[in-house]
Amino acid sequence: MNDTAPTDKTPAPPPARWRNFYGRRVGKTLRVAQKGYLAEDLGALRPAGISPDENPGRTPIDPGTLFGDARPLWLEIGFGGGEHMVAMAARNPAVGIVGCEPYINGVAMLLGKIRLAGVHNLAVYPGDARDLLDVLPPAALAKAFLNYPDPWPKRRHHRRRFVTQDHLQPLARAMAPGAEFRIATDIADYMRQALEEVPRAGFALVSCNGAAWDDWVSTRYEQKALREGRVPQYATFRRVSHASSAAPA
Ligand SMILES: C[S@@+](CC[C@H](N)C(=O)[O-])C[C@H]1O[C@@H](n2cnc3c(N)ncnc32)[C@H](O)[C@@H]1O
Repeated sequence: MNDTAPTDKTPAPPPARWRNFYGRRVGKTLRVAQKGYLAEDLGALRPAGISPDENPGRTPIDPGTLFGDARPLWLEIGFGGGEHMVAMAARNPAVGIVGCEPYINGVAMLLGKIRLAGVHNLAVYPGDARDLLDVLPPAALAKAFLNYPDPWPKRRHHRRRFVTQDHLQPLARAMAPGAEFRIATDIADYMRQALEEVPRAGFALVSCNGAAWDDWVSTRYEQKALREGRVPQYATFRRVSHASSAAPA
């Protein structure tokens, strides 16, 4: 039993008009075509009511509005260039995948891939995943992916990692009992921290090893890690039942 994991009764987080995000939001100049994808495609794919500017009171959204029905909802945190997200969407047409990525060049890359793949079961939030987690009702997510999260290698920066309670508790609250949470990383110390922190947030470890999932789609960052001789590790967690992770009275 742990005493920090969120439960169904965990209050929604306070309004977040402003929050720390230490990664890059903008990279090198976008190509003309990429500017076109952003101008023409993002509006239709971007769910309403998620950004703190648009929804300052952080009113919960109805997840059914994301895809217009009650299909299972998956989340990809930091989709980068979008290769994993688009392939997962193509292979799983009955689910809806929401991707969150503050790096606008990554968003533009994703939009180009969506055009090519012709998938229609993706929603794209060009911002911090915590903005979405603030406004999702408890247990809305059936699966979540964290692929090659920013490693923040310096010890004093470890608290910026996604695998900290500030990020994991809102994620746990939004995940359904039994929902799967996958982490892929090539940074051994990142996985060490994940194995410590993710269970504290209300997940049980299922596996952690060097064997990728059967349906794994390698990403740009994984390819870079392999070229540079680093070794990927893949961890699977399951959200434990909200009731059984309740804090002791
Ligand atoms: C190292 S890159 C990996 C990208 C991609 N998943 C891959 O494997 O190629 C990590 C990404 O996570 C994004 N990111 C970092 N913190 C985030 C957050 N709080 N919410 C959403 N995305 C985030 C960054 O902008 C960055 O693009």
